[in-house]
Amino acid sequence: MAQMVNLRDLLQHEIDDLYSAEEQIIDALPKMVETATDAKLKNVLTEHLQVTKRQKERLEKVKQLLEENNQEEKSEPGFLEKLFGGSKCKGTEGLIKEGEKLMGENMESKVRDAAIIAAAQKIEHYEISGYGTARAYAMQLGLNEVEQLLTETLNEEYKADNDLTALALFDVNLQATK
Ligand SMILES: [Fe+2]
Repeated sequence: MAQMVNLRDLLQHEIDDLYSAEEQIIDALPKMVETATDAKLKNVLTEHLQVTKRQKERLEKVKQLLEENNQEEKSEPGFLEKLFGGSKCKGTEGLIKEGEKLMGENMESKVRDAAIIAAAQKIEHYEISGYGTARAYAMQLGLNEVEQLLTETLNEEYKADNDLTALALFDVNLQATK
């Protein structure tokens, strides 16, 4: 792996990490939808799967913009071969594994629904942290279009997190209390 020499490199690394996160979430969400029993929870998760697919496409656009920016800014030979990405995001992998382990425990379905929300929100918070950091780097670097794209996704992640909080507080956690 090449040495990271500046914030631009760290941004590329964060984008690669988020791309892997979105890919893993796209794979994991259908099982969560299937396991959930509450209809509203199924809806929120299904909707978020569609949103996540668009987020992955948005990151592809970000990667393309960063590559174009590289070509403009750098003349070092072989710079484009300098790849930081390609590795699986271990943070997301761990959160998904932990969630799957919890869903596999012996529990009432209404309790499992509350557990699914908890697992989904841990993943959301990881993403909010990653997108927030990447956006701050893009802002610092004056990469306005990248910043704009990351802001769109960050707002979607906040919305998903808020929807899950509302569902937990006003519905699923109440059901699981009984
Ligand atoms: Fe996402």
